[in-house]
Amino acid sequence: MSIRTLDDLLAEGVSGRRVLVRADLNVPLDKQTGDITDDGRIRAVLPTLGALVEAGAKVVVCSHLGRPKGAPDPQFSLRPVAGRLGELLGSRVHFATDTVGESARAAVEALADGEVALLENLRFNKGETSKDDAERGAFADQLAALGDAYVDDAFGAVHRKHASVHDVPARLPHVAGRLVLREVEVLSKLTGEPERPYVVVLGGSKVSDKLAVIEALLPTVDRLLIGGGMCFTFLKAQGHEVGSSLLEEEMVETCRNLLERSGNKILLPVDVVAADAFAPDAAHDTVPADGIPSKRVGLDIGPETVAGFAAALKGARTIFWNGPMGVFEMPAFAHGTRGVAEAIAKANAFTVVGGGDSAAAVRALGLDEAAFGHISTGGGASLEYLEGKTLPGIAALEN
Ligand code: 3PG
Ligand code: MG
Repeated sequence: MSIRTLDDLLAEGVSGRRVLVRADLNVPLDKQTGDITDDGRIRAVLPTLGALVEAGAKVVVCSHLGRPKGAPDPQFSLRPVAGRLGELLGSRVHFATDTVGESARAAVEALADGEVALLENLRFNKGETSKDDAERGAFADQLAALGDAYVDDAFGAVHRKHASVHDVPARLPHVAGRLVLREVEVLSKLTGEPERPYVVVLGGSKVSDKLAVIEALLPTVDRLLIGGGMCFTFLKAQGHEVGSSLLEEEMVETCRNLLERSGNKILLPVDVVAADAFAPDAAHDTVPADGIPSKRVGLDIGPETVAGFAAALKGARTIFWNGPMGVFEMPAFAHGTRGVAEAIAKANAFTVVGGGDSAAAVRALGLDEAAFGHISTGGGASLEYLEGKTLPGIAALEN
């Protein structure tokens, strides 16, 4: 990989230079209070920002948050992130109320050496995510005008062909930040020759999101454990009724096909926690996976499944986990995710947790982050990396 790194840039000297850093500060916010509920992604970019501050750069940070539709939308403002970033860095972070407008230009202009400014949400601008090269390019021109060099440290967004990820590096001297380098280094161990047994655990709600990675992983892995909302489409494919659980009817045939081709590699739940409603206080029972009552909704994997998954994980030497096993945000339906996470943490294996939700689950359940080999900041990005896809953000750094 012929990518220049932050160390190369630092060696050139950055004192007094404006360095534009693309970060992924897309953190979860509490719907009621707007508070940051997990600041893992902010912490993950501190090594890069700290090094630039130390070296006396004028640091201009940009990021997306959520999926606003190309126009300002206060619920997706990065302002709370500026506050938290300042606390973690131990210095004030100047906040621009637009991304490339007057406020941004003034904030950048006013930066002293070693100071940091955060621009408002990139996705408040249509050009950021536009499919039209010219529209994206025009926005990239404006963004690039705010820096003399560009650092990509937004691993969670490297799979997006967006202006700040794909087009800005074509306009400025560009390097990979510490987080991007570390993520690629770790994930490449999984696509290379992972130590066996190699066990992958997939959860989350949609099979359709995970289909490509399942296809790509099946020939490589020794075991594929499937839980979370997506397991119900597989259970249906096995011929079971799933009540009012999450179901992607149009994927049933595909899942049946995958099960047929997988030999005994795919392991599905044998019991599930089925509830009266999708609510934290809903009445619920553990039922066999082939006996989900018609009016009930499966919200977690059951204890027998956790034991089976834990047994499969016990002897593993390499583990990749993406996606919660149930609705872990509700304590009644968090046991599956906790049980599987604990089994992964205990295994004598190289373990990688991929994806914002699984990473947040680890922290929300109070598990020791240090018990995992690597917690990736990228969900879609880590999956697409494992699929072997060309990632626009990485490709842009190679040129
Ligand atoms: C993520 O949360 O996976 C990344 O920040 C990318 O966000 P996106 O899926 O909205 O592009
Ligand atoms: Mg995502």
